[in-house]
Amino acid sequence: MRILLTAGPTHEPIDSVRYIGNRSSGQLGAAIAAHAVDEGHTVTVIAGPVAVAFPSVATRIDVETAREMHLAVMQQFPQHDLLIMAAAVADFRPVRTYGTKLPRKDHFSLELEPTTDILAEASAIKQPTQRTIGFSLEQAGNVARSREKLVRKKLDLIVYNPTSTMNSTDIDAIFLWPDGREERPGGVSKSDFARLLLSHEMELFTTEAQRHGGASDSK
Ligand code: CTP
Repeated sequence: MRILLTAGPTHEPIDSVRYIGNRSSGQLGAAIAAHAVDEGHTVTVIAGPVAVAFPSVATRIDVETAREMHLAVMQQFPQHDLLIMAAAVADFRPVRTYGTKLPRKDHFSLELEPTTDILAEASAIKQPTQRTIGFSLEQAGNVARSREKLVRKKLDLIVYNPTSTMNSTDIDAIFLWPDGREERPGGVSKSDFARLLLSHEMELFTTEAQRHGGASDSK
């Protein structure tokens, strides 16, 4: 498979030194990349400013902002079979970015605008042979919100990911499928999780018709 994987946060600049971003180390993305390479897939990583080392992959594209990540994903996705959107993309960016370091003031308001939903845009141009996987970081127990994102972003699989995962070496995720199925592997290391995620390859590429007709050969 040709896998396109996004990882890490995006940083949305306020001025020449400050930014808005989500807390994300890129650990989970690095674990997925490592297993994907081990399993012989051709991997392209689009990485935000990650704090951890990544394995050597076929192609690595480093980006800073959601806008840059969006551009890179839209350019790369047509050449891939599967998009795994593990990046913690910032949802908002400052409307105005200052080119120099702003001096301290008594009061400062920032006007923000939403970033593009990269995953929804990629899913919208998805060919019948392509698949998209998203992650949804939620307050504990809010699985319904993940299912809503699965439908809204037209995904083939979404991983409910409780906020406790952040900065942890473990993940207590739930896999949610469009046909209503749920899989709860329980708390596992990010490395074991990555292996489990990639083990769903066959299931992802098997069509509904094949599933009901009993065929398992997909691609
Ligand atoms: N995502 C994206 N582009 C964005 C925001 C999120 O592609 N601008 C992707 C993430 O990489 C993830 C999925 O969408 O795979 C869900 O991200 P999440 O932050 O949980 O959902 P949002 O749609 O941003 O909703 P909210 O922040 O309100 O929970």
